[in-house]
Amino acid sequence: MRITIIGAGYVGLVAAVCLAKLGHIVTAVDREHVVQDLQDNHLSIWESNLFDMLVISRSEGKLLFATDLIQASAGADALMIAVGTPTREDGQSDLSQVEHVAAQLFAAGSCPPLVIMKSTVPVGTCDKLEQSLQAAGIRTEVAFNPEFLRQGSAVKDFMHPDRIVFGCHSRQAEAKLRQLYHGIDAPIQVCDRRSAELIKYASNAFLAMKISFANMISDVCEGYEADIRQVMEGVGADRRIGPHFLQAGLGYGGSCFSKDLQSLLTSGKAIGRSLPLLEATAQINEERIPQMMDKLIALWGNPRGKRLGVLGISFKPQTNDVRDAPFLTLVQLCHLYGIDVQAYDPVVQHLSMKGVTQVDSAFEVSAGADAVIILTEWPQFIELNWVLMVQLMNQRILLDGRNILSDAMIARLITQEDVVYIPVGRPVVHSEEHDLEQAR
Ligand SMILES: NC(=O)c1ccc[n+]([C@@H]2O[C@H](COP(=O)([O-])OP(=O)(O)OC[C@H]3O[C@@H](n4cnc5c(N)ncnc54)[C@H](O)[C@@H]3O)[C@@H](O)[C@H]2O)c1
Repeated sequence: MRITIIGAGYVGLVAAVCLAKLGHIVTAVDREHVVQDLQDNHLSIWESNLFDMLVISRSEGKLLFATDLIQASAGADALMIAVGTPTREDGQSDLSQVEHVAAQLFAAGSCPPLVIMKSTVPVGTCDKLEQSLQAAGIRTEVAFNPEFLRQGSAVKDFMHPDRIVFGCHSRQAEAKLRQLYHGIDAPIQVCDRRSAELIKYASNAFLAMKISFANMISDVCEGYEADIRQVMEGVGADRRIGPHFLQAGLGYGGSCFSKDLQSLLTSGKAIGRSLPLLEATAQINEERIPQMMDKLIALWGNPRGKRLGVLGISFKPQTNDVRDAPFLTLVQLCHLYGIDVQAYDPVVQHLSMKGVTQVDSAFEVSAGADAVIILTEWPQFIELNWVLMVQLMNQRILLDGRNILSDAMIARLITQEDVVYIPVGRPVVHSEEHDLEQAR
């Protein structure tokens, strides 16, 4: 098939590269500077396998880039929309990027016979888009095909999804969508567009809720000296619950969970329904970083002028995405308290933020630090020489915001290096001789 994709960001580019791999001829359309970078094989997205697949698809002539939507979509079998849908200040989804695409189609008076909405949009958006295109005399059908990829394993998730959802109302649209995904072995659910739109929001809300649930229980663990890792191992072993997204830590980030939760809350309000489960999910998440900082400040006493070393900037491992990352909240708080931040991330580079010094290694983070916090669970942080890390510190306070250090390593650091170790959902540990008051 010939597919045009508007929006070559995270979702659009991954879809473009994967659909080209499946044998389709794909043209990805984006703004001038984005296209220029892509044509120079310069990817702003750090995602496993993406670069190699992009280079191969381009060399085979299956993947093209363009800036003119109308030219690029002339003669295409389908137009896929993968532009951003951020949150407005009032909590509603900002659909201006989708509306801009629609305006271009209205102005041209033409469009491929199938429009596939990949962007996450509020319930009813696809109905409205189709009605307005048809009212303008443009014969096309709009289908909703949500994307469930996880950043950090986006290509794998696209090629091996748990399920594929088609929200469409004609057999022709369904047949085209099946042809598009031919070669991917996954269950396909065909449903109406509104239900498909809601499947995407409900899925993200549920995942965010699981994370906040684990974090809420981690608070109880701290109060009763239980171990959240063991609690969630026991909980997740129940097949009705499952082990995923039950790791307590410093909360979720990224471009989707918060925004989709917010959008669903706003959709609820619009029909007079409050969605308290989602409100609590968001609130629990917002409390994570401030709670951890409270523990640190209780040890420090006066935080002003202290230096905090931060390991991990991206919102999760295996990506360079910092959108809505817990790091941003942490930096804001540090700024308020007058704390200097020294940060390192294996892939996030050239982040320019007031009060943040970015360094080139984990050891530079700990050198002279009054505490080090593990913010992102990059696997290489587990393997660090932690004895050397703490020896370089000014004050040996280690906050393990993702519970990644092994019990053996923690025991060694406590007994031999006199470290105060602050995990999540487990008791704070320190050597018997260590007087926590001394840390002040
Ligand atoms: N990032 C994820 O993990 C993820 C997962 C599932 C679904 N989604 C959803 O997919 C959609 C896209 O998300 P993303 O993370 O890829 O966003 P993004 O910001 O990375 O990419 C959007 C791209 O669209 C381009 N764009 C916007 N308007 C344009 C226009 N008029 N002409 C040309 N290009 C235009 C932008 O330049 C940008 O490159 C959102 O609705 C998001 O909620 C994202």
